[in-house]
Amino acid sequence: MADVTDFDLDPTGVARTSVLTDTTSLNSVSNSVAVQCKGIVKDFGAGQTKVRVLQGIDLDVRFGERTFLVGPSGCGKTTLISIIAGLLDATVGSVNVLGTNLSSIRGGRLVDFRSKNLGFVFQQFNLLPSLNAAENAAVPLIVQGVAYRRAIVAANDFLEQLGISAHRKKYPNQLSGGQQQRVAIARALVHQPRLVICDEPTASLDAQSGHAVMEMLSTLASSPDRAVIIVTHDSRIYSFADRIAYMADGQVLRIEKTPE
Ligand SMILES: Nc1ncnc2c1ncn2[C@@H]1O[C@H](COP(=O)(O)OP(=O)(O)O)[C@@H](O)[C@H]1O
Ligand SMILES: [Mg+2]
Repeated sequence: MADVTDFDLDPTGVARTSVLTDTTSLNSVSNSVAVQCKGIVKDFGAGQTKVRVLQGIDLDVRFGERTFLVGPSGCGKTTLISIIAGLLDATVGSVNVLGTNLSSIRGGRLVDFRSKNLGFVFQQFNLLPSLNAAENAAVPLIVQGVAYRRAIVAANDFLEQLGISAHRKKYPNQLSGGQQQRVAIARALVHQPRLVICDEPTASLDAQSGHAVMEMLSTLASSPDRAVIIVTHDSRIYSFADRIAYMADGQVLRIEKTPE
């Protein structure tokens, strides 16, 4: 596992190196594979009520690419990304994320691994109502012990790139859906995670805002040393994919590289 320390913290929690410096290097399974799922089976319930939701998933997600997971509602997309994110355990199979076998880390180490390396964008934005836009976007840095003002500066930089810095002091209930989703994107990227996972990021948005959000996500999240997974069943945004994994009934049916 590479040393993926994004921030050098002194004992007071103040970041010594720039929070925007990515110093990571990778010595993982293969230097182009960010996530490798092998034979993932997931059952919910037990005995008579047991339901097999994932039926043996093999999937590689590569650095420098946007990998889309697409398929009908209920086919297991959210379950799969929850396993990749270490939020759920697979019943059978292994998941390697950024060179780390997820089953080898537990508890606090898993939480640290997640907060350092992963960024999430959810369908319902999931912003904290009592924090303003800049504070919401700064949360991943504050959680890691970066000083408040420094975290806010980094968050504002992203809000500016997303075209909503004028709204940085507004609370979520004062923002439109498209603006809230941009704050959520800033929050997903502010700590420079190497893996960004988005679960139906345009599902709560109208077509125009959805397209704008995808353009920003594509521009800001794309980087040769980052992998982006986007779950969707919104075919209007498939054009943003580098690779599409088609799922149905808990299986990946096929994976297609999209034309350049
Ligand atoms: N915690 C759970 N307990 C039981 N069944 C679940 C649970 N979470 C999801 N499921 C079931 O697993 C299937 C896949 O769900 P999900 O991964 O959310 O699908 P998708 O994101 O593709 O819509 C669905 O049938 C859903 O009802
Ligand atoms: Mg889902």
